[in-house]
Amino acid sequence: MRDKPINIAQPTFLGNEKKYVTDALESGWISSIGKYIEIFEKSFAQYHGVKHAIATHNGTIALHLALAASGIKEEDEVLVPDLTFIATSNSVRYCNAIPVLTDVETDDWNISPSDMANKITPKTKAVIPVHLYGNPVRLREILGIAHAHNLIVIEDCAEALGAKYEGKPVGTFGDIACFSFFGNKVITTGEGGMCLTNNDDLAERMRILRDHGMNRNKKYWYDCVGFNYRMTNMQAAVGLAQLEQIDHLLSARDHIYDAYCDCFRKFPLIRLQSTHGQQNTNWIFTLRIHDFTFDQRDSVMAMMKQKKIDTRPVFYPIHQMSFYQDPAFARGGFPNSAFISREGISLPTWVGLQDDDIRYISESLMESIQQCTP
Ligand SMILES: Cc1ncc(COP(=O)(O)O)c(C=O)c1O
Repeated sequence: MRDKPINIAQPTFLGNEKKYVTDALESGWISSIGKYIEIFEKSFAQYHGVKHAIATHNGTIALHLALAASGIKEEDEVLVPDLTFIATSNSVRYCNAIPVLTDVETDDWNISPSDMANKITPKTKAVIPVHLYGNPVRLREILGIAHAHNLIVIEDCAEALGAKYEGKPVGTFGDIACFSFFGNKVITTGEGGMCLTNNDDLAERMRILRDHGMNRNKKYWYDCVGFNYRMTNMQAAVGLAQLEQIDHLLSARDHIYDAYCDCFRKFPLIRLQSTHGQQNTNWIFTLRIHDFTFDQRDSVMAMMKQKKIDTRPVFYPIHQMSFYQDPAFARGGFPNSAFISREGISLPTWVGLQDDDIRYISESLMESIQQCTP
C-alpha cells in the first residue's frame, strides 16, 4: 500500500509558467488586457495552422460563444452526443435551443453518424461532435452528413488538444472548435478555454460577443447583448508557457497510455476505445470492464480508493439527468451510451506518473476486478 494517494490528474509546470505570471503581475496587466492574451492566441492558432484563436475564461463558455456567434437561437436543434461532459449539451440550452441527444458508437464511444443522420429534422442547425477522452470522432462521416444538411459543425475538443485525424490536428475540421484548459487538461490555465476558426466573420462575432457586444471601433458602444467571456492576462501567461511544452506533455501521455496497455495486455476483461488508426491524445486512460454492472464497477472504484488510487466513472449519459427528460431532448433509446457508462472507469493519467505507479495502479485494478467477479 502506498503512503501517498495517487490523484486522477495533476497539472505539470516545468517551463516558463512562474516567469510569465510574475511578468504579468509586475506589469500590472492582470485582467483581460495584456500581451500574453494576444501571444497565446496567436501561438495556439499557429500550432493548429488556423487563422483565428479567441481565448475565453473557460471551455463551457467557449462552446456557448461558438453557438451564439453561429446564430443558434430559440427552437433550433443541435445534435450532441449523449455520452459527454454536461457542458456540451448545457451550452445549447444557454441559447434556449434544443440539444438533441444522440447515441454513441460502441467501438470509439463517440457520436454515432447513423443515429445523428436519423435525428436530423428541418429544425436541425448544428452538430457538436465531441472527441471523447481525446479520441477523434469519425470526422469524414460526420462532416459528410453535416455538409449534406447544411449544418454548422462545432468540434468539442475540450479533451482532445493534440489529437490528430488523418494527420491533421482535431479542431481544424469544423466551422469552430472549442478547447478547455481546466487543471486536468493537456495544457492548463487554471480555468480557461479557446475557440478556433478559419472564418473571419465568425471570429469577429466571437470577439465582439466575448466583450459585451462592444463595437470594435467605438469604445463603450454596444451593438448587441454580449457577455464577459474574456480570458485574463495571467491565465494566458500560464497557457503560453504550457503550450511551449506541448510536445513533451503529449509524448508523456502517449508513454503512460502504452505503459497501461502493456500491463493489461493479457487481462481478458479490459476493453478500450477504438481509435480507427487515428491519433488519440490520451488525455485520460479510460477503459470498460466487460459485462460489469454499475454496482460491480462502483465496488472496483471503492477498492481502488482503499488502495489510495483515485479513479473516476465514465460520464453518465445525459438522457438520465432529471432536467433532460423532455422528449424534445431525448428521442429514442441510447443503448450504447448506457452500457459504456455502466462499465467505464478512468485511471490516473498525468505527466510525472512513473512506470512503477502505473504497474501498481494496473495490478490493483486487475485484483479489484477479480474480487468483484462472481
Ligand atoms: C467534453 C467537454 N466539453 C466541455 C468542457 C467544459 O470545459 P470547462 O471545464 O473548461 O468549462 C469539458 C470540461 O471538462 C469537457 O470535458
